[in-house]
Amino acid sequence: MAQIIDGKVISKQIKDEVKEKVSAYKAQGIEISLAVVLVGNDPASTVYVGNKKKACEYTGINSVSYELPEDTTEAELLELIDKLNNDDKINGILVQLPLPKHIDEDKVIKAISPLKDVDGFHPMSVGALSIGQPGFVSCTPAGIIELIKRSGADIEGKECVVIGRSNIVGKPMALLLLRENGTVTICHSRTKNLKEVCKRADILVVAIGRPKMIDKSYVKDGAVVIDVGIHRGADNKLCGDVDFASVEPVAGAITPVPGGVGPMTIAMLMNNCVNSVAIQKK
Ligand code: GUN
Repeated sequence: MAQIIDGKVISKQIKDEVKEKVSAYKAQGIEISLAVVLVGNDPASTVYVGNKKKACEYTGINSVSYELPEDTTEAELLELIDKLNNDDKINGILVQLPLPKHIDEDKVIKAISPLKDVDGFHPMSVGALSIGQPGFVSCTPAGIIELIKRSGADIEGKECVVIGRSNIVGKPMALLLLRENGTVTICHSRTKNLKEVCKRADILVVAIGRPKMIDKSYVKDGAVVIDVGIHRGADNKLCGDVDFASVEPVAGAITPVPGGVGPMTIAMLMNNCVNSVAIQKK
């Protein structure tokens, strides 16, 4: 029976730690503000943005909301970002993705000042991470490191396998595991012998985007298994990329879906907002 790594409990711990740091800053007269920008009315994005604002309220971070119509032009959005970059009262800028098709996401991500890039998506933030310099780290992989450490597992010297090479999860995940002195392999759709590679892993991070693809035949006895996927199954229940019922009996520790990785992303966003004060002082 595996240890269940509870993302709800760990994300609450992190938000409580952030809350304390925010109130210590407040005692010194320093307020922290996050600008949250939503373009259009994608239902999932609207829910995510609502949850981010709620987390700000909980931790004592001010959220300043910009809800823009679907037909906002790229130039208008870039103009808003420029204004927020130059506003000393704004510490973090979050532009919810995906953006409507007529707006170039890469251009928007690059327009955000790296000093306010609390999502950690700017090429400067990713570059800093890859050469071991301080900067903002993408929230989901940063949250996964916290899940692994706070569950009591060591990363140093361990075989770490990441399935998925996206810019938001897979690549920064591999860099973070490397920073923790793991021995890291990245797998993807063209990987040969995926099963054999996964079977070597002491720590297996799965971000493939295919429901229940990873069953126990991919997992070494006692491995820590982190499931980044979230899907709604034919039975209307949520499931991950990992077949939980198959893997749980062989894993040493495993994240459930829901309630594993999911809640960590917003907690780490709050953590990045509080860290922004020190980053901006430098
Ligand atoms: N859309 C889905 N996840 C994210 C995220 O972490 N940040 C932003 N900005 N948009 C998202």
